Amino acid sequence: MKIRDAALKLKIYQAGKPIEEVKRELGLEDIIKLASNENPLGCSPKVQEVIKDLCDKIYLYPDASNYELKKAIAQNLGVKIENVFCSTGSDSLIRAICSLFVGDGDETIMGEVSFQRYEDSTVLMGGKAVKIPMINNALDVKGMVNAINKRTRVLWFCTPNNPTGTIITKDELLSVLDLIPEDVIIVMDEAYYEYVTDENFPQTIPLLEKYKNMIILRTFSKAYGLAGLRCGYGVANEEIARYINTVVGPFDTNLVAQKAAVAALGDTEFLNKVIDENTKGREYLYREYERLGLEYIKSHANFIMVNTNRDDKVIFNELLKRGIIIRPGYLFGMEGWLRVSIGTMQQNERYIKELENILNK
Ligand SMILES: Cc1ncc(COP(=O)(O)O)c(C=O)c1O
Repeated sequence: MKIRDAALKLKIYQAGKPIEEVKRELGLEDIIKLASNENPLGCSPKVQEVIKDLCDKIYLYPDASNYELKKAIAQNLGVKIENVFCSTGSDSLIRAICSLFVGDGDETIMGEVSFQRYEDSTVLMGGKAVKIPMINNALDVKGMVNAINKRTRVLWFCTPNNPTGTIITKDELLSVLDLIPEDVIIVMDEAYYEYVTDENFPQTIPLLEKYKNMIILRTFSKAYGLAGLRCGYGVANEEIARYINTVVGPFDTNLVAQKAAVAALGDTEFLNKVIDENTKGREYLYREYERLGLEYIKSHANFIMVNTNRDDKVIFNELLKRGIIIRPGYLFGMEGWLRVSIGTMQQNERYIKELENILNK
């Protein structure tokens, strides 16, 4: 057996602990998962109806061209169908981007505390992810652009940034775009786009016209509540979109996901409810963290980083014993911090009550 050297460098991604695993390991029944930024309200009832009707259709391959889904996304965003591409979650699109643009010895640039999968996908292709230190827990956009050299192929602008929840503002983005060489791909990873309510957040779709090297990634996993179905999409100029379609598998977006995602896009009432609940939950958690005297990072997404000033592994385990799954900060190089997804109000209250008990012990 000869594994490629690049592949040997990879470790298995540590995802949020699944509910079933915690049930098995700790013998608990009543568990809440606030670890993977999933949607606590589930998905739209309209999506559920569509899925029920597909039980007798799953013997068929999905439409390899993703026509109906791409059409719905294109209409939703006001772009052409040729600008859109889809796959098994935006995670696999990150890998597709690296497989197109990154080769042996190439570099991609990301924030020091940002989404791990950028590094994994870069390394898999034989490249290196250069990590730029954060400024006040936000991406140092200027520092990232200054780090571009002849080997740079991709810039990962994660906004809102996972795990810190910060955004790149319109002014910040516009101040650097013209400095980025045309042969460096700018990835705007907007997985949490729908949750952002700040008016300084840039609308990037209109920028695609001028910046032919920009790719915008979004997903149905977060605000649309379809994480388990695995469906993400991207928008870019036609040439890039065509190339991406050559590297994603023809059937990577499954038949159920395609139909469910179209229905999800059609239910704006549900989406608005999700955003409202998330904004309320965010405000509630800010208030509670302030009451408990805990430092936190203002978030534009559906999760918040909070500094417990204690050993985050201990707090993680204590919360786990009480049936609450979160993500300890050491995983992101932020010892002492926790990344906690915003849940329903009931879940948020239960989490705060248990956190307070643990901190007072
Ligand atoms: C910033 C960011 N990008 C991409 C993804 C991948 O999402 P998915 O593959 O579910 O679309 C995630 C998931 O957590 C994320 O946080």
